[in-house]
Amino acid sequence: MDILINYKNDFSENEYKELRASAGWSPLSDSQIANIINNSNFKIAAYINDQIAGMARCITDNGYLYLLCDIIISPNYQGMGIGKKMLLKFIDEIKNSIGNSYAKLYIMSLKGKEGFYKSLGFNEDIATGLAIEINKEML
Ligand SMILES: CC(C)(COP(=O)(O)OP(=O)(O)OC[C@H]1O[C@@H](n2cnc3c(N)ncnc32)[C@H](O)[C@@H]1OP(=O)(O)O)[C@@H](O)C(=O)NCCC(=O)NCCS
Repeated sequence: MDILINYKNDFSENEYKELRASAGWSPLSDSQIANIINNSNFKIAAYINDQIAGMARCITDNGYLYLLCDIIISPNYQGMGIGKKMLLKFIDEIKNSIGNSYAKLYIMSLKGKEGFYKSLGFNEDIATGLAIEINKEML
């Protein structure tokens, strides 16, 4: 039986904090979290039985480039196809917003998670990413 998923285009700071913690990601300051929520132009959250099961967000120039920043599915719901369904819905929303034109959606995948994105059609023929962590101790 298919699980009933409700989608919203927003999520709260606490929901985001909890999902980050569930993924084992380092905590961010409250002001960073507030900026993330306020300045992500495209957000989606999946709810199952009124509980958040996952989120994704991206930032965009609203013209051509879309950068998928995070996607997190709660460990309780991983491996059930929910991440894929949620991201397909997200991609559909971007598609609807660009009309007859085209755009590019990029992801900086964490190591080991590439297979998830490849299952959705992301590929390395267009681009590959590099990243640097910025903190007080660096350089
Ligand atoms: C990565 C993550 C978002 C995947 O979400 P999910 O709901 O568990 O994935 P789904 O069940 O929708 O899987 C969809 C497809 O991706 C594949 N997949 C999922 N996770 C994968 C992984 N880590 N490596 C390779 N393939 C993976 C599945 O096998 C499935 O393939 P199929 O369509 O051919 O059957 C989820 O595991 C998660 O939130 N992890 C913790 C946070 C994280 O690492 N986020 C990504 C940062 S780059």
